[in-house]
Amino acid sequence: MRSLKLILLGAPGAGKGTQAEIISGKYNIPAISTGAIIREAIQSGTEMGKNAKSYIDAGALVPDEVVIGIIRERLAKEDCVNGFILDGFPRTVPQAEALEAMGVEITEVLSIEVPDEKILTRMAGRRVCPKCGATFHTEFKPSPAGENCPCGEKLTRRSDDDPEVVAARLETYHAVTEPIKEFYAGKGMLKIVEGQDKLEDTTALVAAALEG
Ligand code: AP5
Repeated sequence: MRSLKLILLGAPGAGKGTQAEIISGKYNIPAISTGAIIREAIQSGTEMGKNAKSYIDAGALVPDEVVIGIIRERLAKEDCVNGFILDGFPRTVPQAEALEAMGVEITEVLSIEVPDEKILTRMAGRRVCPKCGATFHTEFKPSPAGENCPCGEKLTRRSDDDPEVVAARLETYHAVTEPIKEFYAGKGMLKIVEGQDKLEDTTALVAAALEG
């Protein structure tokens, strides 16, 4: 299988994390979520986590220099040599430019598009495992262990899935992140997949886009 160095774009709740996990298993490459790295830092109480918390709680973006530093460090790790999936980075044009300036070679840029109204429903039903990070949905992807994660931990809601915070995140996405699509379209790299109501239908379209 060829080496895949993929950027997954899409609004909050579009299904980037869900698809990243599937692609990661298929290509045996790491899925790197800046959101997950920041949430871990908040949970462990590091200085970076303490500084980032107020941005996440408000549905705003963490400053560019912080996330660029996170990505620079993470991509230098050995497991990224044969490919990786970036889920949630870049999220601003300066972040995309910084990635390019690092000399990181990207092979695919895929945007998963879902209307805002559907995103609000998805976020309301999302449940996450605070221990292993697994993501479920009460209706669309229920946990086989009911209200618990298969790892045994009780599932919770993400604090930034509160409807008011989701609305702020969507506003930030349209204003600041969506222009990245133009950045990659201008380089002839952008592919678009319409997110479907069934997870597996989106997975099939993503697979076709990556193989096509
Ligand atoms: P982050 O964790 O990256 O959040 P996000 O991009 O807002 O995306 P989500 O994780 O909310 O959603 P997703 O697209 O992965 O959807 P999922 O697969 O879970 O970032 C959080 C915060 O960190 C940001 O707000 C920002 O503050 C900060 N941050 C992170 N990166 C940053 C950066 N680069 N720069 C600055 N700040 C940064 O799916 C959602 C739900 O829908 C799930 O329950 C799932 O089961 C369900 N679902 C998925 N697909 C389908 C489907 N096809 N049909 C039905 N249900 C589905």
